[in-house]
Amino acid sequence: MKSYAGKKAVVTGGTHGMGLATVKALLDGGAEVLLTGRNERNREAARRELGRGAHVVRSDAGSLADIDALRAFAQGFAAELLPRRIRVNAVSPGFIKTPTMGVAGASADVLAAFEQEGREVTPMKRIGTPEEVARAALFLAFDATFTTGVELPVDGGLGQGITVPHA
Ligand SMILES: NC(=O)c1ccc[n+]([C@@H]2O[C@H](COP(=O)([O-])OP(=O)(O)OC[C@H]3O[C@@H](n4cnc5c(N)ncnc54)[C@H](OP(=O)(O)O)[C@@H]3O)[C@@H](O)[C@H]2O)c1
Repeated sequence: MKSYAGKKAVVTGGTHGMGLATVKALLDGGAEVLLTGRNERNREAARRELGRGAHVVRSDAGSLADIDALRAFAQGFAAELLPRRIRVNAVSPGFIKTPTMGVAGASADVLAAFEQEGREVTPMKRIGTPEEVARAALFLAFDATFTTGVELPVDGGLGQGITVPHA
């Protein structure tokens, strides 16, 4: 098991989906984690599930949650924070099986259609798991010590212009 003992982490949007998978991996490794979410019921469920070591707080990070803005900011932050020896990297998920698939309030039918589309258009012919995204994020955070300013797609090849040959 990875050891994150003595590490402190903040995961915004950590009460379900990819954020929660990342929180769990950090806690499993012994880190202390502060995580945020907007919805009280989701926060309470996370508190119950995660127990000690997890500090669940309310936060609405609407503007920060904007993916395009985050992408653009990652390189800027990387340059700005380099003198302080802080690395900044981004993970870019493809279709990932989370409770919302990234679309809050979507009906079960819409989610099923979204999943189906994901399986069809993704070169790997499946959708990803939150744990796969968490592993990539934690790799960048802890192991990739000579890496900053990158965007790592975790998308089954979706954004890479891969053409799958017919069998
Ligand atoms: N799943 C996918 O296929 C997919 C693909 C590409 C990109 N994404 C993006 O990746 C991110 C995570 O997606 P996800 O599918 O894991 O789940 P999600 O439904 O976006 O929620 C993940 C977490 O974010 C919190 N959250 C959402 N909006 C927030 C806000 N404005 N302020 C603070 N917390 C907020 C949620 O808490 P509450 O529910 O309590 O608010 C939850 O803890 C999203 O930005 C999503 O758009 C997802």
